[in-house]
Amino acid sequence: MSIKMWLFPILGAVTLSLFSCASDRNSKKAAHELVTQCDSCHRIDSKISSIAPSLDGMPESYIVEQLNNFRQSRRGTDPTDAVTRKMSQQAKALSDEQVSLIGDYYSRRPRQLSNESVVGDLENGKQLYKEQCEGCHSSMLGRYFTKSPRITHLRGPYLLAQLNQFSKGSRLVMDDSKHKEKMVAVAKKLSDREQSNIVAFIKEHYTD
Ligand code: HEC
Ligand code: HEC
Repeated sequence: MSIKMWLFPILGAVTLSLFSCASDRNSKKAAHELVTQCDSCHRIDSKISSIAPSLDGMPESYIVEQLNNFRQSRRGTDPTDAVTRKMSQQAKALSDEQVSLIGDYYSRRPRQLSNESVVGDLENGKQLYKEQCEGCHSSMLGRYFTKSPRITHLRGPYLLAQLNQFSKGSRLVMDDSKHKEKMVAVAKKLSDREQSNIVAFIKEHYTD
């Protein structure tokens, strides 16, 4: 075989890998530029007063699905909440490609614990959480089989607002799983006080 025949494939491979390094760098830069605006609300030490949770360490599939829920008005439709309205507007301005860049970016970051809590009866909250929530949300197997997100690290006021929205029907889910329907059904049975008790227990008990 002549040297040329060897050289062409090698040069081709080198060019291809240089190209994919450059496009990796470009997509990292693009993701970074996009998330700067998201982080103004979502960073754990954000100066903007809102319930926005830290997105760090959430699974990519969960982030993508929730952004699509905002884009398709299954979430974020409460006209009285200006911050959430802004969140919805931002989600609706994203392309599919940007949504997946964002999901990839946040899923690679380490999860962050918020200590922010709400007031509630810890004993009652513990009993309710163990009976009705733990199986799906607090074991690795439970989360895996039901595709339930981790919730214990998120800020208390955010968790409470979500339970409230599920129970009042202003946060809807993609209708592709019985576990999501069960989540909504469980929330609908809780009183406002029981919701606060559960969240107070979660924030007092879990450290990750
Ligand atoms: C003005 C503040 C603000 C900005 C800017 C913002 N968000 Fe949000 N985001 C919120 C709030 C508030 C919520 C909770 C809304 C609710 O209660 O439904 C939220 C919820 C979310 C959720 C759902 C989290 C979960 O645990 O289900 C995701 C994902 C999200 N935002 C991603 C983004 C991305 C990506 C951007 C940037 C393109 C962004 N947000 C920009 C305020 C903001
Ligand atoms: C059958 C399994 C199941 C049970 C039981 C369940 N959940 Fe969930 N939960 C889910 C799933 C799945 C989701 C994701 C819903 C979606 O796609 O929007 C969810 C979402 C949530 C969220 C929103 C998380 C976020 O980041 O926005 C909170 C808060 C929550 N659950 C709390 C609870 C509490 C508290 C209980 C007990 C009262 C409970 N769940 C019971 C499966 C469950």
